[in-house]
Amino acid sequence: MPRHFLTLLDLTPQELRSLVQRAHELKRARQRGEISEALRHKVLAMIFEKSSTRTRVSFEAGMTQLGGAAMFLSPNDTQLGRGEPIEDTARVLSRMVDGIMIRTFAHETVETFAEYSRVPVINGLTDLYHPCQLLADMQTYFEHRGDIQGRTVAWIGDGNNMCHSYINAARQFDFQLRIACPEGYDPDPEILAAAGDRCTIVRDPMAAAEGVDLVVTDVWASMGQEEEQKQREKAFAGYQVTPELMARADKEALFMHCLPAHRGEEVAAEVIDAPDSVVWDEAENRLHAQKALLEFLMAQ
Ligand code: CP
Ligand code: NVA
Repeated sequence: MPRHFLTLLDLTPQELRSLVQRAHELKRARQRGEISEALRHKVLAMIFEKSSTRTRVSFEAGMTQLGGAAMFLSPNDTQLGRGEPIEDTARVLSRMVDGIMIRTFAHETVETFAEYSRVPVINGLTDLYHPCQLLADMQTYFEHRGDIQGRTVAWIGDGNNMCHSYINAARQFDFQLRIACPEGYDPDPEILAAAGDRCTIVRDPMAAAEGVDLVVTDVWASMGQEEEQKQREKAFAGYQVTPELMARADKEALFMHCLPAHRGEEVAAEVIDAPDSVVWDEAENRLHAQKALLEFLMAQ
């Protein structure tokens, strides 16, 4: 049975820590101009049912840099868009390629895909989780501030796929997570409950940010929720990450955002565009962290 990466819980805390370390090494190796052939002649199929800039480019560039290749598949140009079952697509693709990355809506789609696949399946974002982004976020924290174990993180905004992956990260990397979301936009209660006392809901964003080491936010309306934009803007008023909110956090606190960002909504331009903003390192680290993941899952 192949290993899959559908959520952060598919790897042990030790494996996740090693991946973050390896991601940092791969970044240094690339800066030194070293060539790797760890995935020579291997092929990654990438199915995108939602838009993407970072995920697509980082996986595609990552495969090439490791000596392999990546193939972009969209539902419109494949039989998936004409109703061929996921189970059949998984069986067929996995006889031809060495790994499959999927970005889709329902999390069950990636679970079904994995069940019928002979090769590793990677979750490139579902409505429920975005685990690859957390590998990059953890790498970024480690690089700028060291170990995140025992630190406190504030999630400001929607209890969405990114928030759920932060809840899982709190379990796996052993940090405290305070979630500031308006009522009606809480994370999934089961995912939250499974994290025990590591994660708490604090409605007031200013209180949630008090003394924390990392502040994280994300868009108020995720992909698939575009028609709720106006209603969400009202619900999330007061949940913007502002310089005032950052001033409540620890002096050394970092700000992260998975991007794309909406300046003036979930984050003030002064915060995301601050000279010491780490969001560009965070985005770059998608490349290095996923190369470490691809090596882990696909290299023989
Ligand atoms: N953060 C992220 O996953 O970006 P894309 O939607 O551009 O892939
Ligand atoms: N929560 C956002 C993340 C985008 C990378 C979305 O699902 O659209």
